[in-house]
Amino acid sequence: MLDLPAAGPLKWLDVIETPAVLIDLDVVEANILRCQAHCSELGFKMRPHIKTHKLPMLAHAQLAAGAIGVTTQKLGEAEIMADAGIEDILISYNIVGPAKLQQLRRLASRAKVTVVADNATVVSGLSDVFANSPSPLDVLVECDTGMGRCGVLTPQAAVAMALEVAASPGLRFAGLMTYPAPKQGNSAAGWLEEAADLLHAAGLKSDIVSSGGTPDLYAMNRHDSVTEYRPGSYIYNDRSLIDIGACKASDCALTVVATVISSPEPNRTIIDAGTKVLTSDLFGMQHYGTIPEHPDFAIVSLNEEHGRIECPSGNAPAVGELLRIIPNHACVVSNMVDYVHLVRGDNYVRAELVAARGKVE
Ligand SMILES: Cc1ncc(COP(=O)(O)O)c(C=O)c1O
Repeated sequence: MLDLPAAGPLKWLDVIETPAVLIDLDVVEANILRCQAHCSELGFKMRPHIKTHKLPMLAHAQLAAGAIGVTTQKLGEAEIMADAGIEDILISYNIVGPAKLQQLRRLASRAKVTVVADNATVVSGLSDVFANSPSPLDVLVECDTGMGRCGVLTPQAAVAMALEVAASPGLRFAGLMTYPAPKQGNSAAGWLEEAADLLHAAGLKSDIVSSGGTPDLYAMNRHDSVTEYRPGSYIYNDRSLIDIGACKASDCALTVVATVISSPEPNRTIIDAGTKVLTSDLFGMQHYGTIPEHPDFAIVSLNEEHGRIECPSGNAPAVGELLRIIPNHACVVSNMVDYVHLVRGDNYVRAELVAARGKVE
């Protein structure tokens, strides 16, 4: 149904060179279907964030499962998705500067693009390049419902920004967007409802009210104020999501396989994966990933190409052994490698180019 490739005859153990990033398609399929069913049940249209996987193939699988479009963080990611034939793209990030605005204008001529704005400079930049466009650009007002990142700070400020968008040539006010802080998905919906009421009183209509995030995905209640949901990490999951109880280790589709290259002491081993694969993202936790087969092992420090593991029982593995790690944060690992290895259980599927890797502009 999702049209993802089948397993081949080989075992991945016999194919890969480490450090390698493995994506288990059996787990990916289960994650996509579960999340889509959940969002459909809550009445949310799905618009998954592709920054987690950066793979057109998985974006198409998410659409095949029922998503109405995709979300990207950056223009470069959006271009890769448009190149792959994806027609409906939300860029959930303020676009600033003349070169990027021209890039956006070109992209909007070949895909249905929606963008966000939370300040007057962004709105006027968008308006300048879309004022003479044959069709207006849809703009969502980004709202800070507790994350403390981008976004207008109050529902009243959302209305003021919406009026500014609506009054700007070349732009159409299309609704609201927020990325709630973890554990605030439901309270953020209350914020959005208040803003929608104020917008209504001001004579404006929000066609789209977009919320998102995997931490709260399965804790969300139905909210009439939310029309779309943008989870990203749910497709792979990671140690940070295990840590907050949002998934189990068996729900994690992305793993890093590393080789033990030295075990200088019984309680210390060194692997061939460092920050250049696992990244230095701690995400508020201790250590750099978890090894389900050795729950007592702690990846205590990383250099670029070395990972140092403490083995408290003095059972450091032999040189040459492979260790399979669930990284702290899957989305950043996707951006570290040219290719990921698709697998199904023990079986190898194929290597897949991470097409939007490095598309951070
Ligand atoms: C604007 C926006 N939307 C959606 C997401 C997806 O969040 P998650 O990976 O928690 O599902 C993110 C993640 O950072 C984001 O920044």
